[in-house]
Amino acid sequence: MLDRPETPFHRPAQDPQSRARHWSPFLVKRHLIEDQIGALSDARMEDGEIRARSIVHPMCQDAIESLTPATEVTLNVLLPGETRTVVRDNANRIELCLQGEGRVSAGRDLEVNRHDVWTIPPMQPFTYEVQGSKPLVWLSYANTALLRRLGAYVKETGPFTLKEETKGVLTDEKKSAYSRHGAPDILMPDGIARLRGYEHLTDIEEIDSRAMHWAWRDIEPRLPLAPGEMAGTDKRNIWLLYNPATGRRQGTTGTYFATYGGCGPDIPAYAGDRGHRHTSASINYHTRGSGSSIVDGERICWEEGDLLYSAPAWLEHAHYHGPNGWTVLTVQDHPMHIAMGSLLWQEDMTGPIYSLGAGEGQKGYVSPREVGA
Ligand SMILES: [Fe+2]
Repeated sequence: MLDRPETPFHRPAQDPQSRARHWSPFLVKRHLIEDQIGALSDARMEDGEIRARSIVHPMCQDAIESLTPATEVTLNVLLPGETRTVVRDNANRIELCLQGEGRVSAGRDLEVNRHDVWTIPPMQPFTYEVQGSKPLVWLSYANTALLRRLGAYVKETGPFTLKEETKGVLTDEKKSAYSRHGAPDILMPDGIARLRGYEHLTDIEEIDSRAMHWAWRDIEPRLPLAPGEMAGTDKRNIWLLYNPATGRRQGTTGTYFATYGGCGPDIPAYAGDRGHRHTSASINYHTRGSGSSIVDGERICWEEGDLLYSAPAWLEHAHYHGPNGWTVLTVQDHPMHIAMGSLLWQEDMTGPIYSLGAGEGQKGYVSPREVGA
């Protein structure tokens, strides 16, 4: 807690870091994850309890469990024959299957397997079940931490009030008169600014925001992972798992993008000593290979199965894969920053800083520090 004088009036912060230090990069080793999977698998569950643990950063001190200031990452286990109860909340999630297979029901049924990625949209009731013989183990990346810090997290366990049940409260005539289509929308004298009715705030245009699923078997052939394979037009070192509902924010969900990246054993590692930086915070899960990352001057060694908070906001970082190459799932809160207009990007640490989405974007790069041919 800060020791503040009793008056509510304080000098505004001059140094952006004066009130809050960066959370440092943080590595969670594979053996700790595996030990926790074992403990969750063996645990006796009380009614309503779930086999899940939040992975908490040591600098997280406000009793809101999270790995980064905005993101809660949970490790989840579901045993054969078990079903996770239906819930819904206003968070969005990217999920990654680490082991086993199962069914995710979130408006549509997804059959998920190892290294598949899927999403759960906000306010979509969702549940999980395992019908096979192996436990389903998955990581879930959710903006529950940010929502809790805002006091804006809402969760329901049902029964849920569906839109159809509110029919009849208002007449169709009133509905159409007081919708965004009938509300005033007046151009101001400068020819740019507008003055709009309240209905524009509450009757937002709908988009199709269904759960998405990317099977690893559909991504793997597009990554140059085998000896002799090179990145080209049909294979790339990084692929964005894009959800069209996020539009220009280039997201996998409204808050996050996920990318799968990697290379094979005969691709030399990056030889430079400078990295890049961005205001989005990045989390890497290494599904194959080994190597190291230099984050804010600190070298961190990682290997297959390690989870790394690899790039706290606006810290310089570079990744160096080992002799066998690597495969990595990266999750960043990049679309959230595009929505706020706060996404800054500096690919070359001696070059310009770009305000992505507000001005001309960074051109010439096909992956971090790799200039397009
Ligand atoms: Fe990065």
